[in-house]
Amino acid sequence: MIEGFAHMTMRWMLGLLVLILSLSACGSKPSKPNDTQVAAVKADGPKIYQNFCISCHGNQLQGAQGPNIQKVGERLTEEEIIKRIQKGGGGMPPFQVALKEDELKALAAWLAELKQW
Ligand code: HEC
Repeated sequence: MIEGFAHMTMRWMLGLLVLILSLSACGSKPSKPNDTQVAAVKADGPKIYQNFCISCHGNQLQGAQGPNIQKVGERLTEEEIIKRIQKGGGGMPPFQVALKEDELKALAAWLAELKQW
């Protein structure tokens, strides 16, 4: 009885110790992430576009239900694009809730770069 209980407690403490060690190891070693790690973490504009926007703006951004936005960077700044995506309007739904801030930013930054090529 007592032995079993002690055994359980030991296991629990060991688990806690491992957790604390791994947490502190994380905090004490601020290694700079390399480029591939950054790319994996960073929100990806084109991918978000595929998930949320393609149905109305087309797979080439050529437009369908929504307008062509292939060169939207010529007309709108990143800020304006962010507002547009957040608020929607004129037949476009607002994405304020669906998109996280970094996703919204990545998407708008990508679109703002689309200019005459
Ligand atoms: C349900 C269809 C629909 C979806 C989904 C949609 N849009 Fe739109 N979008 C529209 C329509 C319609 C307009 C034109 C609104 C107007 O005339 O004011 C528009 C306008 C825009 C504009 C302004 C274009 C310009 O030249 O002024 C941008 C930028 C835009 N959408 C980006 C996006 C992005 C990015 C997404 C995905 C997060 C998205 N849209 C999803 C329908 C949609």
